[in-house]
Amino acid sequence: VAPLRVGIAGLGTVGAEVVRLIEEQSRTLSERSGRGVRVVAVTARSKAKKRSLDLRGIDWARSPLDLANDPNVDCFVELMGGSGDPALSAIEAALKAGKSVVTANKALIAKHGVRLAKAAEKHGGALNYEAAVGAAIPVIKTLREGLAGTGVNRVYGILNGTCNYILTRMEQEGLSFAECLKDAQRLGYAEANPSFDVDGHDTAQKLAILASLAFGTKVAQSAVYVEGISSIAPEDLRAAEELGYRVKLLGVAVRTAKGIEQRVHPTMVPKSSSIAQVMGVTNAVTIDGEGIPPITLVGPGAGGAATASAVVADIADVARGIRAKPFGRPVERLRDTTKAPMERH
Ligand code: NDP
Ligand code: HSE
Repeated sequence: VAPLRVGIAGLGTVGAEVVRLIEEQSRTLSERSGRGVRVVAVTARSKAKKRSLDLRGIDWARSPLDLANDPNVDCFVELMGGSGDPALSAIEAALKAGKSVVTANKALIAKHGVRLAKAAEKHGGALNYEAAVGAAIPVIKTLREGLAGTGVNRVYGILNGTCNYILTRMEQEGLSFAECLKDAQRLGYAEANPSFDVDGHDTAQKLAILASLAFGTKVAQSAVYVEGISSIAPEDLRAAEELGYRVKLLGVAVRTAKGIEQRVHPTMVPKSSSIAQVMGVTNAVTIDGEGIPPITLVGPGAGGAATASAVVADIADVARGIRAKPFGRPVERLRDTTKAPMERH
């Protein structure tokens, strides 16, 4: 069988790790997928930029759109970020050409996921986005494929590595918010615009995606109530601790009689609870299914290596010929999101 030819747009924290991982794991990948996986072309904003990556033998495309349209590329991998162009047009072009697409871009899936899923279904390619939520944690697969036969009543957790890292270091080391954010940026956890992290929007995008998969509704980021952590100071965390609590930024989506309630805000959780033990860049997602005890997935929620592992797993699925419905069911069957009035819990 001919190898899967991969084109990667974006060679930053995640993209560079994906190129490395495919090279490093090439034997395991071909054993597990039944065919080879080769990076044949890449692109980024600047060709001249110094990168600690061996790109010999790999073509450089002039633009993401050129890469998506390259007839030598079977699978287009988008790792640039941003909810609009060039990511959107390039992904649409690849899907329209019948190619499969892998992305880690939650902003784009939260805004245009339904439209892109329609194109994937129409033209027969896969649209895989495991890395968009919880980085290395296989939570999309769990909801989309693993729990396909189980109704879900609630999905919630810590969905942003940057915020949990900041809250942990502020609490444990008494550092300022600004110092911790700077470190999160240096470590490659934060978004290009870190206000997406600290103002809660990144968590809201991820929550909206999880809610869609859990409840069979259209992704609706605008239905999420959002409050971030930027006004929290070390003294607030100390005060919470004295009362026996830790502060965590939680995303919660719950089915109610009045619709789907989706909310993101800092929450005081008892220090003895399992969610309070989730520290640093770690994420945790709990799924309350009908008739089964809760399932909790915990793991690294940001960073190049963690995210690349999910991207490469998605590429391996494409190589194997798996074409899951992007939202677990035909797009036309996704219901409109009914927004429940928010209640404080
Ligand atoms: P970076 O900012 O590190 O890298 C972005 C890459 O995209 C760079 O190589 C940049 O080029 C390239 N790029 C940006 N704009 C353009 C453009 N207009 N045309 C061509 N190339 C462009 O981002 P990350 O690697 O951190 O994130 C990538 C995606 O992965 C985002 O969607 C992010 O939300 C998602 N993600 C990130 C995680 C993380 O921990 N970092 C975790 C999970 C998901 P150049 O190098 O030349 O500047
Ligand atoms: N900025 C995101 C975070 C990256 O910190 O969680 C992972 O999606």
